[in-house]
Amino acid sequence: MDQDQRGTTSTVGSATLRRIVAAWPRRAAVANQPDAVDTPQPFDATVPDYPLDLVPFARHPRFLAATPEQRDRVLTGLWLGYNERVIATESMVAEPAFQLIMRGGLSGSEDPLLRQGIQQAIVDESFHTYLHQLANARTRELRAVGERPPQPVLVTYRRLARTLAELPERWERDIAVLTWGAVAETCINALLALVARDRTIQPMHSLITTLHLRDESAHGSLVVEAMRDLYRQMNRAQRAAVARFLPLALAAFAEQDPSVLRIELSAAGVEGVDEIIGDLAGTPPGRRLVRDFSGGRRIVAELGLTDEVDFDFPDRPDWSPYADPGYHDKIAYGVLGPDFPAGLDVPGLDGPGLDLRHAEQHGAPTREHP
Ligand SMILES: [Fe+2]
Ligand SMILES: [Fe+2]
Repeated sequence: MDQDQRGTTSTVGSATLRRIVAAWPRRAAVANQPDAVDTPQPFDATVPDYPLDLVPFARHPRFLAATPEQRDRVLTGLWLGYNERVIATESMVAEPAFQLIMRGGLSGSEDPLLRQGIQQAIVDESFHTYLHQLANARTRELRAVGERPPQPVLVTYRRLARTLAELPERWERDIAVLTWGAVAETCINALLALVARDRTIQPMHSLITTLHLRDESAHGSLVVEAMRDLYRQMNRAQRAAVARFLPLALAAFAEQDPSVLRIELSAAGVEGVDEIIGDLAGTPPGRRLVRDFSGGRRIVAELGLTDEVDFDFPDRPDWSPYADPGYHDKIAYGVLGPDFPAGLDVPGLDGPGLDLRHAEQHGAPTREHP
C-alpha cells in the first residue's frame, strides 16, 4: 500500500502507476496476444451471438411469439450493435479524455510517467477497435447480414454533448470531457464482463470481450491513478466541476437506449415492437444494461467524493472482476493468468506472456504484497 500526500492510505499511488506502466508489455493484448482472434474458430450456427440474459424483453410474450429465426436475428443485431457501441465509447468518450491529457491541457498532464501510461492506453484502444471491428465483420459474414439499420449516436456521448453545450467556458468543457472519459474507462470493464462471462454464446465473442476486459481492468486502475494526480492539482472550481459531472457521467454510461432495442426488433420483423418497448419503460432492466458499478464507485471514493456524488450504486454482483481480492495486485504487476479475472476461464487465453511464470521472469512478485 502507498501513502499519498494527503496522508490517506490507498492501494493506488505513484508506485502503483509505475508498476502498471512497467507491466504493459506483459499485460497488453496488442503486445502479447495480437493474433488471438486472427484464426477463425469453428462456427456452430445454433449457438447464439448475444446472451439472452442481457435482453430486457427476453420474456416478453410478443418476443416469444416471434419465429426462432427472428429471435436469432435480434440477438445477432444486438451483438453487432454492442460492438458498434463499444467502438463508439472508445472513440467518442474515452479517447478524447486521453487526448486532452496528451495535449497537456491540464495541470499535471505533463508528467512523463502519466503520459507514458496514457499513450499505452491509446495504443490499446486502437487494438480494441480492431478486435470489435473484426468481430462484426466475421459475424456479418457468417450470419449473412447485409445492410445494418442506421444506429443512433451513442447515448453516453449524447449526454456529454448536451452537457458541453451548456458550458460556455473551455476549462469547464475540458473537465466534463475528462470526467466522462474517466467514468467510461473505470466502468467499461463491467460492460465487457456482461458478455465475457457468458457461456451460452459463440466462444469467439467471449474471447474478444475477455481480451478487451483484461486491458480495461488495467485502464481502470491507470485512470484512477491519473485522476487522483490531476484532481490534486486542480483549483477549487475545477474540483467542484468534477463532483458535479461525475453523477451525470455515471448515469449517462448506465443508460439503456431503448431506440437501439427498437431498431433490432424492427429489423428482424418482430410484431408488436411498440408494445415491447412501451412495456420496458420504467422497468429496471429497461433502464440500465450495466449492472456492476464497482469501478465507478471506486473512482468516486478515490477522489474523496463519496458524500458529494448522488448516484444510486447497486450492490456489487458476485461475478464482478472486483470481487477477486487479488484483483488490483494482479493488474499492477501484469500477472494476468488464465484465471484472470476470476471466473472467466476462457479457452485460448493461456498463451505465452499471460501466465504467471512468464510474469515472474520479468520481476513480478510471487507474493501478494511485496
Ligand atoms: Fe478499450
Ligand atoms: Fe480503455
